[in-house]
Amino acid sequence: GVTRHYKFDITLRNATRLCTTKSIVTVNGQFPGPRIVVREGDRLVVKVVNHVRSDITIHWHGIRQVQSGWADGPEYITQCPIRTGQSYVYNFTTAGQRGTLWWHAHASWLRATVYGSLIILPERGVPYPFARPYKEVPIILGEWFNADPEAVIAQALRTGGGPNVSDAYTINGLPGPLYNCSGKDTFKLKVKPGKTYLLRLINAALNDELFFGIANHTVTVVETDANYVKPFDAEALVITPGQTANVLLHAKPTFPNAAFLFAARPYATGQGTFDNTTTAGVLEYHNPNRASTKLPLLRPALPSLNDTANVTNFTNKLRSLADDRYPSDVPRTVDQRFYFTVGLGTDPCPTNRTCQGPNGTKFAASVNNASFVFPSTALLQAHYYSQSNGVYTTDFPDIPPFPFNYTGTPPNNTFVSKGTKVVVLPFNTSVELVLQDTSIQGIENHPMHLHGHNFHVVGQGFGNYDPVTDPSNFNLVDPVEKNTAGVPVGGWLAIRFRADNPGAWLMHCHIDLHLSWGLKMVWVVNDGPLPNQKLPPPPSDLPRCIS
Ligand code: C2O
Repeated sequence: GVTRHYKFDITLRNATRLCTTKSIVTVNGQFPGPRIVVREGDRLVVKVVNHVRSDITIHWHGIRQVQSGWADGPEYITQCPIRTGQSYVYNFTTAGQRGTLWWHAHASWLRATVYGSLIILPERGVPYPFARPYKEVPIILGEWFNADPEAVIAQALRTGGGPNVSDAYTINGLPGPLYNCSGKDTFKLKVKPGKTYLLRLINAALNDELFFGIANHTVTVVETDANYVKPFDAEALVITPGQTANVLLHAKPTFPNAAFLFAARPYATGQGTFDNTTTAGVLEYHNPNRASTKLPLLRPALPSLNDTANVTNFTNKLRSLADDRYPSDVPRTVDQRFYFTVGLGTDPCPTNRTCQGPNGTKFAASVNNASFVFPSTALLQAHYYSQSNGVYTTDFPDIPPFPFNYTGTPPNNTFVSKGTKVVVLPFNTSVELVLQDTSIQGIENHPMHLHGHNFHVVGQGFGNYDPVTDPSNFNLVDPVEKNTAGVPVGGWLAIRFRADNPGAWLMHCHIDLHLSWGLKMVWVVNDGPLPNQKLPPPPSDLPRCIS
């Protein structure tokens, strides 16, 4: 591999969508941000310079960061934020990884506008495990707020209620023709009849899982989260915030007498309000021998907003290749088993205030009822220098502190406990983790993202996980390998991973609202005995915390 240098200048620029002009935080003035295309094994060196008022960090979503934990990026976990006027160089390799990943801000809600694709091509001479596409097209789904996203979450946290929802979804930053005042802001994909296109889909939306489909076309799914899967055809995909999917679009063999919309709209399982709108782009067939005529515009039939059966059907089809060239490395044996509940809860309302959450409380969210509080210094630094005192504690609850039943009435006491609690794992621990959705403040699908590792989805189901009967159905042959997977609404997800990467690794719901409410925890993975199993010292320019 080669070393590729980039400079990310964090700057403001004006952007107009839906006839609203506002100042947004960007990288190099671009929205969406710059596309990075590298080859497997390349090293990336990205100097990020902060020219805006907001504190910021950049996360390289899905990059393993083996022995480069200081470059992972979540604020207060692996680094303190880059303050105004400061800079930080992220330095990491793509060795052993190929596919569609992305990068985004990992501070407050800045990733609303600070995101871009990170495409890792296979090593030179190594083909895809499918026919070579004619062209490759990144498609980033996003979410547009007419308001300032940082102000939206600050207001929600202050009042305790749900935040204002976004005003549009976007495709490559453009809302498309189904919104008022947006027809000219439409992403167009021109295709030639008979050709195959690789669409590299990324869901960068802040708070919504999305269905995506193309009118009158099925696509072939070949990869998710930068891991190849056994190809299968789908009318519509579901893609959660954080996830990526590569699909093949086979353009019709002859010039069709229509133009086709591709569109995305939410899969919504929560109780709260959400943006119930549809973003669209236009698939245009290009035939140079034919005069352009006004073609009828067809819309895709997307699943309905709460079509969980469709989602289950789709996710059950995701299987890793598990062949000689791309074997599955799912751990066959387990060293430690964990059972974590994920869901919403509440915080008390401060006295002399009125709060807009449930029964006058404030909304919160938790893992095993522990709602994670960011430390005031970087957790990884405290771990590296063995100075956890006052920064974090290692008493993350092994099991949920009280029983629950997703079909039953929620407990009277919905208050979460607050703290900066981690689980410490010896190097190379093979972990099985069951994530159980709770009914404590309504059931909901939570897309859980693990930093620093990929995991294998060995099982999922509805209702309460049964530790006696459910494991017998686990797939240890070709489970899909991912970095983000949805815990089914009112159900459970079983994953396995090997903790072979020393560092401090955030695991959280990739719905930013839930992340902000505390649905996150940290795995601290200790060094192994060999030199190449140790976390190196922090880079000299690691942003320092003010404390
Ligand atoms: Cu895509 Cu913790 O992030």
